[in-house]
Formats: sequence, C-alpha cells, structure tokens
Amino acid sequence: MKVVITGAEGQLGRCLKDQLFCTSHSVFSLSRNDLDITDSETVMKRIVKLQPDVIINAAAYTAVDKAEADADTAWAVNALAVENLASAANKVEALLVHVSTDYVFDGLSNRPYRETDPVNPSGVYGASKLAGERAAQLAVQHAIVRTAWVFSEYGHNFLKTMMRLAGERESLSIVNDQTGTPTYAGDLAVALIQLSETFPGNGVYHFSGGEACTWFDFACAIFETCTELSDEFAAPQLTPIPSTEFPTPASRPAYSVLDGQRLMSKASVSSGNWRNALLPVCRKVLSQ
Ligand SMILES: NC(=O)c1ccc[n+]([C@@H]2O[C@H](COP(=O)([O-])OP(=O)(O)OC[C@H]3O[C@@H](n4cnc5c(N)ncnc54)[C@H](OP(=O)(O)O)[C@@H]3O)[C@@H](O)[C@H]2O)c1
Repeated sequence: MKVVITGAEGQLGRCLKDQLFCTSHSVFSLSRNDLDITDSETVMKRIVKLQPDVIINAAAYTAVDKAEADADTAWAVNALAVENLASAANKVEALLVHVSTDYVFDGLSNRPYRETDPVNPSGVYGASKLAGERAAQLAVQHAIVRTAWVFSEYGHNFLKTMMRLAGERESLSIVNDQTGTPTYAGDLAVALIQLSETFPGNGVYHFSGGEACTWFDFACAIFETCTELSDEFAAPQLTPIPSTEFPTPASRPAYSVLDGQRLMSKASVSSGNWRNALLPVCRKVLSQ
C-alpha cells in the first residue's frame, strides 16, 4: 500500500510515521512545509504525482481557544482544505482517512457517544471539524475517525504541559468536571493503519483510549507514573476544580466519551489503552 500522510510533523503524524516504518507500506510523509493542504492546486498536483492508495489526513488547526478569534484560519484548514484532499483522493481513486474530534458533540450525553448520535458543536474548532467531516464525505472512499484528548511524546498536549508545569510549580488546580478519554496518538496511529488495510466501508468511526476519566484523574495518573519512573521527579500538589474556575475562550463538552465498538467490530481494531501508554510516554518525555 502507498500511503501519504499530511500534517506529518504533528503528534499524530509523527506517531503514524513511527508505526508505518515498521510495516512494508511505502510512506510519503508530508509536513506543512512540504504540502499546505489549503493550497488546492498544489494538493492536486502532489497527490496525482504520488498516486497513493491511501491519504491519511493528520493535518489540522488544533488550537481550540485560538480558533475562537481566528475562525477563518481554523475553517480554511479544518474544513475547506479537506475538500482539496477529497478531490485529489477521487482523482487517483485513493481512500481518504480523515481524523475528527469529540468536540463535534455538545457533551450533554450521559452515555458514551455513538457515531449515529446527533452532533452539536459548541465552538469554532468543533464546528470547523464537523464541516471537515462533511468535506471528507465527498471522497468516494472515505473513513472519518473521531478521537479525543490526544497525547504523545511529541508536540503539545496535556501530558507534556503537566510535566512541564511540575518543574515550575508546587501546586496545580485541575478541572474535574469534564469527562473524556485520553488517547495515545500511537494507539490511534495503529488503528488508522489497520482501518486503511482492512477498509470496512465508508463511514464515521470512533476511536479513543479506553477508560473514561476527568482531566484531574488524568493528571494524577501522569504524576504517579512520573514519580514511579524518577526519584528526582517532584509531583505538585493537585486540587480538583470546576470548569467555572478555569474559564477558557472556547467551552469544552462536559462529557465526551466515545463508544468505539463500531471500529472494533468492523475493522478488528483493538481499543486504545491510555494507562498502558503512560509509562513509555512519560519515560520518553522525562528523557527529552
Ligand atoms: N490533540 C487533541 O487532543 C485532539 C483531540 C481530538 C481530535 N484531534 C484531531 O486529531 C488530529 C491530529 O491532531 P494532533 O494532536 O496530531 O494535532 P497537531 O499536533 O496540532 O498536528 C497538526 C499538524 O497539522 C499541521 N498543519 C496545520 N495547518 C496545516 C496546513 N494548512 N497544511 C498542512 N499541515 C497543516 C500542523 O503544522 P504546524 O504545527 O506547523 O501548524 C501540525 O503539524 C486532528 O485532526 C485533530 O483535530 C486532536
């Protein structure tokens, strides 16, 4: 299989490269510098030249709060650019694997969200990603994978922020009334590759990291792991707080746990397990 990765220098893009390196697939990793997905002409030319079987779109505008004041850019990358990828995928008869988010939901559910549940994003980021899902559906062959709370040893994410703050502060207040599922980008990468290999048909799929928790629970688990790994690591004192005490420009869903049964049954993809990923990821970050 010939695979093109767009947004290859983001955290998912880098994990995809790591995972695909261990397979026999031919991989073309295109960072933003190599290919700006908002440039429709260049996207078409590049894809026609490479003739991939699969395009995995790991490129996105992921700054959730910044998007509120920079809607045009968020929309250009997360929605309009996906149309460019869908057109190019159709030209070469490739499968477009597109990644979306739990933020397409409003967070009012009291059970894990299924793919068929009504969407209702509350911010610019979620709305632009939802428009991106609709753009991805323009590809004759497409799979849209919603995920949540992505972390890894790469880029910017909650785990790395917590570990940095541990070196700067003796105490931290962490939101304890938002429930979701941390997802290791490496687990997501494996799932996307398996999905591409076995392609069970067009549609939306959910993939996340297993056990649900709050940001406060996740922070506790991160610091417990770091303390196990290093005698020198000083965990800050943690205080659980409600979201109202940590106001952000974009509101977050209070509950965004994703039900991943569909992908597991249709593509034999195993669920992610964020707890299993914590030890290796924290070890890598501690050594950076
Ligand atoms: N992070 C999360 O918690 C989370 C949660 C749910 C869903 N997701 C989804 O998961 C996917 C992967 O997210 P991630 O965490 O890996 O994001 P990330 O680390 O922010 O990576 C996104 C990559 O896209 C690149 N990019 C931005 N604009 C581009 C453009 N016009 N053309 C080409 N590349 C461009 C970025 O480059 P620059 O760095 O140079 O801007 C970056 O390398 C995204 O679809 C995201 O919406 C993420």
